[in-house]
Amino acid sequence: MESVKSSKNKIVIANWKMKLSLKESIDLANDLKNYCKVFKKGSVVVCPNFMSIIEVKKILKDTPIVIGSQDVFWEQQGAYTGEVSPSMVLEAGCEYAIIGHSERRKYMLENYEMIHQKLKAVLNTDGITPIVCIGENEDERKTDRRDFVLVHQLQQSLGGISLLENQQVIIAYEPIWAIGSGIAIEPEEAVYAHKIIKLTLNDMFGPQVSSNNFKIIYGGSISSKIVKDFVDLENIDGLLVGGASLNAEEFCKVAKAMLASSKK
Ligand code: PGA
Repeated sequence: MESVKSSKNKIVIANWKMKLSLKESIDLANDLKNYCKVFKKGSVVVCPNFMSIIEVKKILKDTPIVIGSQDVFWEQQGAYTGEVSPSMVLEAGCEYAIIGHSERRKYMLENYEMIHQKLKAVLNTDGITPIVCIGENEDERKTDRRDFVLVHQLQQSLGGISLLENQQVIIAYEPIWAIGSGIAIEPEEAVYAHKIIKLTLNDMFGPQVSSNNFKIIYGGSISSKIVKDFVDLENIDGLLVGGASLNAEEFCKVAKAMLASSKK
């Protein structure tokens, strides 16, 4: 049977960021329950804040929606005040972990050496799939450095990693200038950037591993209004959704549109 995590299945991931309190997270999870029956198990992921993971998991336990964390540390246990390890998020019910989101790169000064360590820790934790974020900033885009930046970020985060046959890695292409701006990338530009990512993965891992073990998803100002322009694009295997994931109806519209295209 084809695994739910197979690279062929599209995926839509909600990143709730630090936007919801525990109560608001519980309310949204309850709302999602009413909308999510149509989804295939594991095709939709929600990433609440650490404090809310356990409660949200309880609510969504018998639904097709699975849970991810918004970050994770690179050690499993020890004197690392304030950090949460991959095995801890696994124990709390997570099946995914976002790594290296640009907001963490900006505010926590995370760099790709740290992201690489986090990726290794997640891959060593059976049961959690990493979602590695990459993407250029506005200045890099304006000065035509985007391709170089993407290749470099992939090499820094994934260099030297070898994957077991059943291990999946999700690469989230999130142009920093598009995140939270209300202006998504033009679909043709996303196709181009995803092609660069795909070719780099082919180069680093070989075409077979690149196709079987990786998904490449897009994130940045996706909403139900524009999602139709992103379904069925080459090398776009799903979406990472911020703002539009904070309302159950809106998020499910986005997810339905994207996932309907998986069936074709
Ligand atoms: P956005 O956020 O959809 O609000 O732009 C996406 C993200 O940061 O993952």
